[in-house]
Order: sequence, then C-alpha cells, then structure tokens
Amino acid sequence: MPDRDKSRVDLDGVPETLLWNLYQRATEARRPDAVLRDPKAVELVDSLDYPFADRFGAGSFGQWQALRALRFDQEVRRFLTEHPGGQVVALGEGLETQFWRVDDGRVRWLTVDLPETVELRTRLFPDDPPRRRTLAGSALDDEWTAQVEPAEGLLLSAQGLLMYFQPDEVHRLIAGCAERFPGATMVFDGVPPWFSRRTLSGRMTNAQGYQAPPMPWAVDAAEKARLRALPNIAEVRDLRPPRGRGPLYGAVFPVLNRLRPVRELGVTGLPIMTARFAAST
Ligand SMILES: C[S@@+](CC[C@H](N)C(=O)[O-])C[C@H]1O[C@@H](n2cnc3c(N)ncnc32)[C@H](O)[C@@H]1O
Repeated sequence: MPDRDKSRVDLDGVPETLLWNLYQRATEARRPDAVLRDPKAVELVDSLDYPFADRFGAGSFGQWQALRALRFDQEVRRFLTEHPGGQVVALGEGLETQFWRVDDGRVRWLTVDLPETVELRTRLFPDDPPRRRTLAGSALDDEWTAQVEPAEGLLLSAQGLLMYFQPDEVHRLIAGCAERFPGATMVFDGVPPWFSRRTLSGRMTNAQGYQAPPMPWAVDAAEKARLRALPNIAEVRDLRPPRGRGPLYGAVFPVLNRLRPVRELGVTGLPIMTARFAAST
C-alpha cells in the first residue's frame, strides 16, 4: 500500500516540470539497455501519487532526457576525480537523483530549490547524510551562497533551471557566482530561441494537453558571447551530448552534434554549457 501522505504531490507551474524530467529518466532507466542507470528514479515514479502517463504520455523523451542527465553526471564525476571531497551545489535540483548516481562517498552535496519542491524532496529523502543537505530558497536570492564551502573545490550545476529565468536574472546569477566563487565551474543547460518562443506563445503543449511553462532565457551564439563578456568569466564552453542508442541517438545525432550551428538548433539535444570562473588574483 503506498503511503498517501508520503507520496502526495502538489506542484504546478515551473516546479511541476521536475516531474517531467523524473518521468523521462525513469522510463529510460526501466529499459534493459538504458543509457542511464537510475533505479532511484524508477522507485520514485512508482511510489508517487501523480498521473505521470496522463500528463506526459508514454515518456517518449526518455533517452533524450537521460543523455542530458548523463552529460551532467560526466561533468560531476570529472570534477570529483579532480577535487576529492569537493562540493556540488545543485541549483533547482527538483527530484534529480544524481547524488545516488555519482556519489563517491566523499562528495559534499547542497541542493537549492524552491520551498514547495524542497518540501517534497525532503519528504521523500528524509535521511540526509551529513554530506547531503537541502536548502529551501530561490537560486536568485543570496541566502544559499552562505552555505557554500568552496575550499576543496566547487561545482555549481543548474540542470533544467536557467531557461525559466529572465535573461538579466541569468546574467546576474552567473556573474554573482563568478565574483563570489573564483576558480569554480558552473554547468548548465538552456533552450534555443525557437523553443523559447514557442513556450512564450503557449504553443509548447503535448498530446495530453500539458503545457510547458514559459522559458524566457534562450541560448544562441550571441547569448553565449554575452555570457563570455560577463565579469570574472574565464571561459564558456559547449558540451556535446553523449552518444546514445539506436540509429538517431547512436549514429545521426553524434555526427550532427560535431557542428556547432546544428547543436545550437537544439534538435539533437538541448545546449549544455560549462562556465569556468576566473581564479582570484
Ligand atoms: C525542470 S525542473 C529541473 C529539475 C532537475 N534539475 C532536473 O533536471 O530533473 C526545474 C526545477 O527548478 C526549480 N526552480 C524554479 N525556480 C527556481 C528558483 N528561483 N530557485 C531554485 N529553484 C527553482 C523547480 O522547483 C524545479 O525543481
């Protein structure tokens, strides 16, 4: 019998989008040939009292979403190899289960998300080990920055978050982090301009009638140039989605993804980038 109190989900607007991501990851993870092992995501989808299939259909973006998550995992793993015991700050983490995929037994993990999402996350994951902490608040406020411990290295991640902000909010957030945390890295993704426009005009609706919330921040070459020009940014680099399974994800997309203009269209995977902050002088 599912515990109704524990499995209750009351989210709408941007916080509800975390359920789309979770559902796609879990759908992929159920496959024997999954590109991402994520038993915790499967466990969550099976336990939550939420009409996943009625809202999001069959989960046909499973591999798409899983490859995106895998790219973020690769960056976190690389960081942890270079910075044993470093801190990962996951902004807008929702019900991402990345900690359980990448935990090396030493990483210190800080989740920052809105209060309604944190209420759900902490209800589902009540036994925070001391290395894993969860903070309720907006990534756009300063409070969370006081909890950051960059001494052993710091990786900030913002998967599926920045597109919901206004461009000036994204610029302030990245520039603020670059100023506060010299030498740290931030990995994040975005949507291309055509995608952003569709969400803004309310035309990003699936067959079940679920409408994606507006995503005002879009990434293209001009926007990346603006990010590079922010103070204390040493480098902004594109990350290619990993090779997946089948003719599209395994053969066609990896070839197309070698071409920057094609990557920027966002059809073969949403743009994922990393920003390295300048070291202090
Ligand atoms: C699309 S979900 C992404 C969740 C997760 N990162 C993933 O990739 O599965 C967007 C997340 O951003 C969070 N969010 C929205 N606005 C936020 C803000 N101002 N500060 C922190 N988190 C926010 C939502 O609560 C939700 O968890």
